Amino acid sequence: MLRFGIVGTGNIAHRFARAISFVPDAKLVAVASRTKEKAEFFQKEFGLCYSFDSYEAMAQSDVIDVAYIAVPHQFHKPCTLLMLKSKKHVLCEKPMAVNEKEALEMFACAKENQRFLMEAMWARFVPGTIKLLELVQSGKLGTLQEIGGDFCYALSENQLSHHVLKVENGGGSLLDVGIYGLNFSKWFFGETVKTMDAKATLWKGIDSYTEVSLTYKEGGISHLSSAVFLDKPNFGYLKGTKGKASIPHFYAPETVNIDYVDGTHETITAPYKANGFEYQIQHVCDCIQQGLLESPVITKEHTLFILKQMDAIRKQIHVHYPQDD
Ligand SMILES: NC(=O)c1ccc[n+]([C@@H]2O[C@H](COP(=O)([O-])OP(=O)(O)OC[C@H]3O[C@@H](n4cnc5c(N)ncnc54)[C@H](OP(=O)(O)O)[C@@H]3O)[C@@H](O)[C@H]2O)c1
Repeated sequence: MLRFGIVGTGNIAHRFARAISFVPDAKLVAVASRTKEKAEFFQKEFGLCYSFDSYEAMAQSDVIDVAYIAVPHQFHKPCTLLMLKSKKHVLCEKPMAVNEKEALEMFACAKENQRFLMEAMWARFVPGTIKLLELVQSGKLGTLQEIGGDFCYALSENQLSHHVLKVENGGGSLLDVGIYGLNFSKWFFGETVKTMDAKATLWKGIDSYTEVSLTYKEGGISHLSSAVFLDKPNFGYLKGTKGKASIPHFYAPETVNIDYVDGTHETITAPYKANGFEYQIQHVCDCIQQGLLESPVITKEHTLFILKQMDAIRKQIHVHYPQDD
């Protein structure tokens, strides 16, 4: 049984805490917050054994084996380094870091301290994604020609101080939600990118809307979009020579509708057991119990590839973070 502790008490920390009880090999024992009140409130809410009024205090304790980093992007690196140096394994929220340079430092620290480190790309582990990968590998869609993925949402007028809107926080739609489309495209088309064209609408130095077109050496093309001020249906598709899969909530689907060119139809359903996070938590347990320092699925190279791609997209759309200097 691995003992987990959460760093942060926000939105995603809650989602993680709700999922972990569905994982037989994991137990959530602790939470750390910048404030005692929030730590204790979260502790009570989930019936945890321990709460800490600083991230450092949880790092120095010996009550956890794995730290889950659930703070805004720009704190992923310092919190991860803090936990690794205190000999804790780490599951770090996406994006692992605001750029490739930071992530390289984080992986080097994991190696030096001989601890497991993985980016929390939970969507890769849900049954719907695995079924989609099997569908494509089976050849039922034929040769994959085109991928689409829109992940766009709208923050409201009274959310303008949100950390995702601040350039110093690694803000913008690309790192927040565009990352899912890039992951999705890589899962199916791989790494052989031929061209990458990005267009964006900027707002106070961050990308509020980004569109990316990728072409691949084997002939495939991906159309991806992300937004923080524009609500669109969260939708993706995989188009092959023998059929098209239409995918609501494309990067972590529970339902996929397929129209084959021969006129037949198929619906794949793959509901989550809890909220979808349970599969990545089980994967982390499996890796650590096998003595691995890296996931064989969301590998170091995978995370670095996507960050490098996002660095290059940001260059095209003129989004520069202080962390890039
Ligand atoms: N995997 C997913 O589906 C998914 C979904 C949403 C977000 N995320 C990722 O999870 C991370 C956190 O997002 P979130 O939506 O949970 O954010 P959130 O609701 O704002 O919570 C972030 C938490 O981080 C801590 N924190 C430390 N320094 C902070 C600062 N200067 N400003 C604000 N909060 C600070 C706070 O906890 P304390 O005050 O208790 O210390 C806060 O509750 C982001 O990197 C995001 O990309 C992932």
